[in-house]
Amino acid sequence: MPTLSESQIKDLLDAATQAQELAHAPYSKYRVGAAILAGSGKLYLGANIENQSYGATVCAERTAICQFVMGGESEIVAVGVVTPDDGWPCGICLQSIKEFVGEPQDCKIVVPFGDSYIARSLHELAPYLWSSSLVRK
Ligand code: THU
Repeated sequence: MPTLSESQIKDLLDAATQAQELAHAPYSKYRVGAAILAGSGKLYLGANIENQSYGATVCAERTAICQFVMGGESEIVAVGVVTPDDGWPCGICLQSIKEFVGEPQDCKIVVPFGDSYIARSLHELAPYLWSSSLVRK
């Protein structure tokens, strides 16, 4: 797995913490920020956007993916996620991240852990994400 430098990880989590400020979470009050490190080296930010019709809520990771795609990017190198309790991304978000990852071993997901952080590959977090050779690319 390609390693991220300590400064890349710090920048990723700092950006996700900044994005968390922009969350629209009046219902759960659970603010989430995400930052994607793209293949180009640029960072793309997202925060959860809740809706009064709860099912229309979009997670922080997927709002960041929207920004990333609209930035003309196609490769996710790493994703930093900041929640109130150092949580990991949900399953739908992991599946959404997979869409833009070549080798799931090579994409890192990073979350804070106390004063430090934990980094795991997409493959480690979700080794059996769905894919089908029957779906046309
Ligand atoms: N949420 C995220 O933004 N990312 C996740 O990976 C899981 C949950 C949001 C959705 C909702 O606005 C709030 O957290 C509480 O579930």
